[in-house]
Amino acid sequence: MPTEFISVTFPNASTEIDPIPNAAIDPAYLVRYARALDDYGFNYTLVPYDSSYFDPFTIGATIASVTKNIKVIIALRPNTLYPTVAAKALATLDQLSSGRVVVHFIAGGSDAEQAKEGDFLTKDQRYERLEEYIRILRRAWESADPFDWDGKHYQFKQFSNRVRPTNGTITVSVGGSSDEAYRVGGALADIYGLWGEPLKETKEQITRIYAAADRAGRPESDRPRIWVTFRPIVAETEELAWAKAHRTLDALNRNRQGGLGKTPANAPPPQNVGSQRLLDIAARGEVQDRALWYPTVTATNARGASTALVGSPQTIADSILDYVDLGAELISIRGYDNFNDAVDYGRYVLPRVREALKLKGEGGQTS
Ligand SMILES: Cc1cc2nc3c(=O)[nH]c(=O)nc-3n(C[C@H](O)[C@H](O)[C@H](O)COP(=O)(O)O)c2cc1C
Repeated sequence: MPTEFISVTFPNASTEIDPIPNAAIDPAYLVRYARALDDYGFNYTLVPYDSSYFDPFTIGATIASVTKNIKVIIALRPNTLYPTVAAKALATLDQLSSGRVVVHFIAGGSDAEQAKEGDFLTKDQRYERLEEYIRILRRAWESADPFDWDGKHYQFKQFSNRVRPTNGTITVSVGGSSDEAYRVGGALADIYGLWGEPLKETKEQITRIYAAADRAGRPESDRPRIWVTFRPIVAETEELAWAKAHRTLDALNRNRQGGLGKTPANAPPPQNVGSQRLLDIAARGEVQDRALWYPTVTATNARGASTALVGSPQTIADSILDYVDLGAELISIRGYDNFNDAVDYGRYVLPRVREALKLKGEGGQTS
């Protein structure tokens, strides 16, 4: 399979370095950003989920209606939508976009965040529910016949779905770094999402995901495709990129102290394993491998994807290629200066990576 690129959707001009408090959706910005990703050859854009944030389905539908090729990854927490409703909502959007929908499942990494929307299951139970949920959605997409479900978390009778995905089914992604995430994602995901860790740790995680897939009886040809996530800080030269990195870090620290960060200054340690792992690695030193930079992790309490890659376009491209060599097929890159960084990646990073892959005969896909 070719190497593909993922970005994240931003509904307005607010960024982590220049936040606009309580910014509403800016439809013109959303469309301009989505079209820029599409024009510069990104393959996917993730529409993230947060208990306090915009509805990914309507944002995703808007993106699909103004773009041609880019696929929309809808982040979905099972506690927020009954599975038969989710199956139809995703399939509806898939039909509207001619088969450009992917779903990224979030079991829920924080008890407090889950409780905000009425979910009081333990983490183990949340992963167990996720497993059942994915099985129901696949059945609903793939089966023409009405079916009953008598599971632990869901029971229903004679559900029949007339909204079928354009290509027969919808690609399922799972993210996380806990044993439970490896087990469920390894068994059921088409794509497995990871945050940016050093090469050695990433390799270890891939090995564990593949081992879980093996245990679930999946053949080698059917293992999940690996997605890794970075926040590149790119400039024309190494020197300029490092200066930009330190300006970015100063802004993150200043905003967090001023109450404008994604996490409060006194936030407790994160509960999800993915973030804990990033903070542990950050404690070992600022730079790992070629250019993987961790102070942005510490500055944000590892809230969401937070590991940077710092350097010239060539350094960023070479770093990405290191992960492709490890077996990553989907590379998520988004910056801190959201729109401008996406354009810089589209102009200077994606073409370099694709050219290098072409020379190696691996063929990066442009649409
Ligand atoms: C690539 C990627 C994207 C994610 N997107 C979201 C998101 O949009 N919303 C969210 O609440 N969690 C998101 N997560 C977090 C998780 O999917 C997951 O719930 C959490 O990390 C589980 O914790 P664990 O690492 O302990 O298994 C994302 C994780 C990854 C790796």
